Amino acid sequence: SPLDLKEIHDFLISLALKAGDIITNALPDTGGTGSKKNSADLVTEYDRAVENMISTSLREKYPHYEYVCEVGSSTPEILMCVFPHQSRFHGEESYDPTRPLTDAPTFVVDPIDGTVNFVHSFPFACVSLGFAVDRVPTVGVVYNPFTQNLYSAIRGQGAFLNRQTRLPLKGDNVEPLSGLGNALIGVEWGSDRSGNNWETKLRTLERLGQSKENGGAMVRSMRSLGSAALNLCAVADGTLDLYWEGGCWAWDVCAGWVILTEAGGIVVDGNPGGWETCLDGRKYLAVRAAPDQRGQREIVEEFWGHMQGML
Ligand code: IPD
Repeated sequence: SPLDLKEIHDFLISLALKAGDIITNALPDTGGTGSKKNSADLVTEYDRAVENMISTSLREKYPHYEYVCEVGSSTPEILMCVFPHQSRFHGEESYDPTRPLTDAPTFVVDPIDGTVNFVHSFPFACVSLGFAVDRVPTVGVVYNPFTQNLYSAIRGQGAFLNRQTRLPLKGDNVEPLSGLGNALIGVEWGSDRSGNNWETKLRTLERLGQSKENGGAMVRSMRSLGSAALNLCAVADGTLDLYWEGGCWAWDVCAGWVILTEAGGIVVDGNPGGWETCLDGRKYLAVRAAPDQRGQREIVEEFWGHMQGML
């Protein structure tokens, strides 16, 4: 039977609101959290609890889907749930690297995007619930329970804030993109602080910020919201002009991606030349809606031209 995207969208919203209650009632502490690969890559009991609630609820909602494995609590990172009809669950805390994203309809879930913010009570964290078909982000729900901003979209049906306000916030009156010099850009520290990715980021950020006399782009400023999903939603609503990231994962971007593209924005590769990019490419450049596509492409080219190396 055809996928009922509206039903999936509405159900994901209900799960996001439930997840929001768990997140806002939580008492994370900055010292006692678990780390994954290093002290900037955190996982808390709440990340696991939210992901478990989501995968369990999906199973209850779709009982005809038979799971071949379950999200456990002891080593959730290595498990993944597979639905019949090849639908899958691809969650940050139950990710199995031997089972990459496929073309099958897949729930792509980050239970808490912005875990560092969450642990420090910095109020930019969200639950990010995406659904991809043929690896194309198709349904997206992003909910920040601290600000109570709920972003959602279904492919082909527009993007909304709190279910009613159509994005971008300026509607059809979006301003032209008049170059990097007037841009506010979302960038992230990420959790890889060494190697080529880190070097490229640092040198590029220096160049983006530097004065024009010294060869830089002198962007207006850069922000690190601490959540890939919220960065994408900020580009979708028009409060950021661009967002550039190398190193995050499909679950960080799937939901925000469909919200952004439904709001008139574009996502291209974080490296020069990649006009066609993919959900699990792990490097992304997002641009807000503009009155014309040429403006979007020009600012992408300007950005790529300032990059110092490849991610
Ligand atoms: C992180 C955030 C952050 C990005 C990192 C991600 P998490 O996700 O999205 O903005 O820079 O690469 O890992 O760990 O908080 O779910």
